[in-house]
Amino acid sequence: MQTVSTTPSHALYQAHLKTLQERYERAMYHFGLEAIVLASGAKSYYFQDDHTFPYHAYSGAQQWLPFSLGAETYIILRAGKKPTLIWPVRDDFWHAPNPVPAGEWSQEWLIVCARQDDKVFSQLSQDTAWLGPQPQDFAKPCEGLKAFIDYDKAIKTDFEIAAIKQANERAVLGHLAAKQAFLEGASELDIHLAYLQASRQTADQEPYPGIVGLDQHAAVLHYEHKSPQSNPQSRTLLIDAGASQHGYASDVTRTFTRYADEFSALVESMDALEQQIANQAQAGVDYPDLHQQTLIAIAECLKNHGICQLSVEEQLAKKIPQVFFPHGVGHLLGLQVHDVGGFQQDRAGNTRKVEQAPFLRLTRSLEENMVVTIEPGLYFIPMLLEKMQDDIKDHGCDLEKIKRLLPYGGIRIEDNVVVKKELALNLTREAFLQASAH
Ligand code: GLY
Ligand code: MN
Ligand code: MN
Repeated sequence: MQTVSTTPSHALYQAHLKTLQERYERAMYHFGLEAIVLASGAKSYYFQDDHTFPYHAYSGAQQWLPFSLGAETYIILRAGKKPTLIWPVRDDFWHAPNPVPAGEWSQEWLIVCARQDDKVFSQLSQDTAWLGPQPQDFAKPCEGLKAFIDYDKAIKTDFEIAAIKQANERAVLGHLAAKQAFLEGASELDIHLAYLQASRQTADQEPYPGIVGLDQHAAVLHYEHKSPQSNPQSRTLLIDAGASQHGYASDVTRTFTRYADEFSALVESMDALEQQIANQAQAGVDYPDLHQQTLIAIAECLKNHGICQLSVEEQLAKKIPQVFFPHGVGHLLGLQVHDVGGFQQDRAGNTRKVEQAPFLRLTRSLEENMVVTIEPGLYFIPMLLEKMQDDIKDHGCDLEKIKRLLPYGGIRIEDNVVVKKELALNLTREAFLQASAH
């Protein structure tokens, strides 16, 4: 059985911590702080229930540790000092014990095991700021600190890139199993279960709820259901599902087809289009330009496949590509699937929105070691097609052909790419190649 890469080395983790320490020390100096506390957050309960929501630690705290961080765990940072980890001790026989994970990582930390009412923060000065949920009175509000820190999160360390690479390898094992289940006629539910099993995770551990849409459901951008209805004749599977490696996400979409026909030809074109855009995700490129390039490429694709007979220029003027591709070309990826800081232009928190692309979540110029998704799509969404017929005069679209394509739903292909100088390192394609070599 194929396995994923081994855990990143201790040297990578040490270099990662050094970078984080530098970033936070710069922030402490900038805001005149003596300390910053990062809080992982507490579990929260469903209304009138004794069950909790699936728990995800605050990403700012998770970033510091090489394993999934639990609730009510704190990190205290002071300039020039080893970071302190406040580890919760619970006198509780209802849950499994919560030992501090063993490993070399702990050499870099001062670890304090504490009970809930221990006064772990009593020694901290008034010049302490708090980041994360449930701020405490002793910590002063520090306006601008979050934006200052979030801006740098876009640039990943080698440790973070290694984690996202592993998360891709796990996701790809799931996608291959999902494709197999689809070809065997499985239901959305069974395809999702096959995905989870092959990518070794529970649904709660997925970085976002996996989207598994057969046929028309592939046209629902955030399709949430998992129908138990199997269908040996299903035409399309759109699966958008990732995996999490100690908090770092992969975010991968593939569209698989059963038949070789006019829709599968469209999928092939979209696959080539996606790779061509992904290859351009290099340092110095303005990400909104990639979105614009994608709209142009979609217009060419619509014309080449006889879906719209208008020229590319006419299509762009009438916003035809947006009828079929109504979302952004991608986003930053990291501890959060839609990672923080995508609109920020600087540490001061100034943001940029692109009016023509309101759904685009990344408006920065690409820098080395950013990790982004590239996820063009082409969907047959009845609501948007009806609106086009109502609003756009002389749309030039072949409505008969579109009617034939409606039952296939749509296409999205999504890869995760590390931005390099004059290179776009495609972690997802690499993982598929690696998996097919076994
Ligand atoms: N899976 C959510 C996204 O692709 O952005
Ligand atoms: Mn996705
Ligand atoms: Mn995405």
